Amino acid sequence: MTDTTDIKKGLAGVVVDTTSISKVNPETNSLLYRGYPVQELAASLSYEQVAWLIWHGELPSEAELAEFTARERAGRALADNVKAAIDLTPTSAHPMDVVRTAVSVLGANDPQTADASREANLAKSERLFAAIPAIVAYDQRRRHGLDVVAPRDDLDYSRNFLWMTFGDEPSDAAAEAFRVSMVLYAEHSFNASTFTARVVTSTLADLHSAVVAAIGALKGPLHGGANEAVMDVFDEIGSADGAEAWLDAALAEKRKIMGFGHRVYKNGDSRVPTMQAAFEKLVESGEFRGAGGAEVPADRGPELVALYHRLADAMDAKKSIKPNLDYPSGPAYHLLGFDTKTFTPLFVAARVVGWTAHVMEQLEANALIRPLSQYVGPDERHLGE
Ligand code: ACO
Repeated sequence: MTDTTDIKKGLAGVVVDTTSISKVNPETNSLLYRGYPVQELAASLSYEQVAWLIWHGELPSEAELAEFTARERAGRALADNVKAAIDLTPTSAHPMDVVRTAVSVLGANDPQTADASREANLAKSERLFAAIPAIVAYDQRRRHGLDVVAPRDDLDYSRNFLWMTFGDEPSDAAAEAFRVSMVLYAEHSFNASTFTARVVTSTLADLHSAVVAAIGALKGPLHGGANEAVMDVFDEIGSADGAEAWLDAALAEKRKIMGFGHRVYKNGDSRVPTMQAAFEKLVESGEFRGAGGAEVPADRGPELVALYHRLADAMDAKKSIKPNLDYPSGPAYHLLGFDTKTFTPLFVAARVVGWTAHVMEQLEANALIRPLSQYVGPDERHLGE
């Protein structure tokens, strides 16, 4: 029997494979995609360029980017049966359930589902990348009883995403905050959803199955679901002045404070300063909205920034636990006009790049992922004893 001291609950600290896609270094508080610091990428590259880098290992040439961009723009519209599948789900369903269902239909539609070659998997990854924004936008609009907005192929990924969701052209500050969030969320080594995608791939199931499973793993509030939970916390607290009292009560009840803490980073998440700056710039621009794209008073943005800092400072003082990326992205997505429950599907739109890169990497040197467990149930017994 395995000694209990060998058990690594939650696989904490266990290195299960190698990867050349990204490097998370908690000692230096850094995150590298294919060797490049994520802050540098977020400062100057489009999400399309970063997606290519994550998939291919190198930045695209001008010609490669132009061809990829053309394919992405051509792949933005949803097939009728995907729209029909979304329409069959109730508007009371969580948007993550809708995205999971729609991606499953995309897998059923895809002509290359059964082809596991790298070439086919890249083509499928690009098609998912192009289609997911339309799913998220379609779902948010139908919940508000609004007509579908057709994609615009004169707009880049981020601007088109916001265009399809809200039906008007985003401000530069809005497009910028959104682009930065996509770049920062795109990849993060063996996190729970990516590991899920690798487990599914290790059985030689297809890429869409791996992505559907990863969406399920991302939904939980200990992982991607935290970005929406952060907004729920802000709504619960109300204003900056209530932050300390709210935190004292929540910690006394032993609640986990959403948007704080991380399995790997114990002294701050490397992505937070970049996303926080994008959130604050959006507020400074004055060009923000409320949930569902609603108009909100001009002081809504500064109020959220004040609450953001008061709660983070209080958490640092009381528990020395720092925010993770979901903490600044939650209020930023709110001020972009997304419904709170749509925040985690936005994480899907970004992380699909990392998931699919890991699917391809897993297949390059596959081994079935099948850990052991220590049995602690009843000793052998027999019917009738
Ligand atoms: N609120 C309150 N206490 C916390 C928090 C938190 N957010 N995070 C950690 N702690 C405490 C734990 O209660 C534990 O205290 P204890 O030693 O007294 O029991 C200690 O810090 C260590 O925490 P663990 O839960 O062991 O850390 P673990 O690595 O397992 O958890 C996790 C990481 C799940 C992210 C945790 O910090 C958490 O639940 N955070 C809230 C959810 C969240 O924001 N998730 C997003 C993750 S990042 C992302 O997906 C982009």
